[in-house]
Amino acid sequence: MNNISVLYSEEELALSVKKLGAEITEEYKGKKLLVVCVLKGAFVFTADLVRSIDNDMQIAFITAKSYVCTSSTGNVSISGDHDFMGLDLREWDVLLVEDILDTGRTLCELKKKFASMGAPSVKIAVMLDKPSRRVADITPDFKCYEIEDKFVVGCGLDYDERYRNLPFIGIVSE
Ligand code: IMP
Ligand code: MG
Repeated sequence: MNNISVLYSEEELALSVKKLGAEITEEYKGKKLLVVCVLKGAFVFTADLVRSIDNDMQIAFITAKSYVCTSSTGNVSISGDHDFMGLDLREWDVLLVEDILDTGRTLCELKKKFASMGAPSVKIAVMLDKPSRRVADITPDFKCYEIEDKFVVGCGLDYDERYRNLPFIGIVSE
């Protein structure tokens, strides 16, 4: 078992997610909102966030993978629900929901994909932003916290598939 120290407690995070949900509610008033949860990591954040957004919406899922253990492989593979329940993406404002924005490769690929399907807007909501690691030209439109270059786990984030179930965000030390 690795040592894990708490970076953001369950209570802190819950408040931050509520605030973000209120911001997103304002942004998408009167629009057709399609929330796209980027699996696996964003499943916890998405579940919490959508319950804090007071708008009509639909929710879709897509799988993207770029990490093995604690290293970004540089290759992003995308799989999952590609026909988005038959929706015509030209009618939907897309909000990509991701656990963490790191190098930015994953969200850059996903943003391009949804823009190419004709979505009038494609925005990004993340629980955590690690700007010091960025290689792609991308910034989050909505975020809970900006963090230093530390490897974090919990609330969906894993270390080699472990710790996704932790109710807080923690920093792993070997
Ligand atoms: P990006 O394409 O480099 O921005 O990668 C984003 C993905 O890398 C996230 O969806 C996470 O799955 C993973 N990732 C990046 N940093 C961390 C971390 O500190 N802990 C756990 N997963 C991470
Ligand atoms: Mg992920």
